[in-house]
Amino acid sequence: MKNTARQNLQQKRPFFFFAFFFNFMIWSWWTLDGVVSDPQTNLVKLWCDNEGDIDGSIMKEILNETLRELRAQIKDRSKRFATAQAVKSSIPVYALFQCRNYLSVADCLSCFDVAAVNIRNCSARAYGGRLVYDGCFLRYESSQIFDWASESWNNIVCGNQTIKDSPDLASTVQQVINNLDIATPRIPGFYVATKTPVPNSNGLNIYGLGQCVDTVSQAGCQTCMDIALAHFKTCLTNTDAKSYDIGCFMRYSTTAFFADNQTTDISRFLLKHAGSSNKGP
Ligand SMILES: *[C@@H]1O[C@H](CO)[C@@H](O)[C@H](O)[C@H]1NC(C)=O
Ligand SMILES: *[C@@H]1O[C@H](CO)[C@@H](O)[C@H](O)[C@H]1NC(C)=O
Ligand SMILES: *[C@@H]1O[C@H](CO)[C@@H](O)[C@H](O)[C@H]1NC(C)=O
Repeated sequence: MKNTARQNLQQKRPFFFFAFFFNFMIWSWWTLDGVVSDPQTNLVKLWCDNEGDIDGSIMKEILNETLRELRAQIKDRSKRFATAQAVKSSIPVYALFQCRNYLSVADCLSCFDVAAVNIRNCSARAYGGRLVYDGCFLRYESSQIFDWASESWNNIVCGNQTIKDSPDLASTVQQVINNLDIATPRIPGFYVATKTPVPNSNGLNIYGLGQCVDTVSQAGCQTCMDIALAHFKTCLTNTDAKSYDIGCFMRYSTTAFFADNQTTDISRFLLKHAGSSNKGP
């Protein structure tokens, strides 16, 4: 009789073990692969332009048409950047969408779908809207400004957690974002992802991301990156910070937001830069 409880437990042991092992598998699938299968729709910024003297229902229709066109390009041609334009009753709409390159095409599409729903929070009579997520960027305007790199709208969102016990954190973050500023405009595709260890920090790493919109010029990308870089002064010891603009995006985080094998080798771009700016004998 006394043995029944123990026998019960013994019978259940394989189950407990299996449950534990199964959960461990799920956990490691999520954490080790990190950012696999996550469209990263954490909101950075929604902005809506002023309302104009335009017919909201027509504007809605054109917006729908351009969004459908953007979605088709992402889905059917596996693109991570797309533009679309349409005109109705002489109202033009120019829409642009960009994913961070580390997202899979499926995640990119999911990020688009969330953005396409939420950008409709802007009034139908708004002249435009811009929506920045960690994983993607959607904007539409009633003028053709695909090549505009920067607007006074730009800003930074600092994380609300600071790290005080790592003396080398701020200097490492500064180094990381300086490198993003140098390399991003010089790399074809205007995209950089880096991982940099923080010295004397018990294994802390800085994950950095620099990206410009494909349709800006190299000089425009540089201008945008320089402005983004300047914003970071206010948050060099946070766990995370993101600077956005109409032509670029710059971010660092102490938490991985892309996989280790998705980093970009930027060393030759930094060397080139050092060489060209070295005017000594
Ligand atoms: C990167 O690593 C993941 C597993 O962490 C793997 O599934 C993927 O194929 C790797 N990608 C490349 C390009 O090596
Ligand atoms: C635009 O698309 C949204 C969502 O798909 C839909 O609810 C709305 O009726 C559409 N509007 C027009 C004018 O087609
Ligand atoms: C859009 O509006 C919905 C409903 O009010 C809200 O839940 C959602 O968070 C809004 N999206 C953004 C990006 O502000």
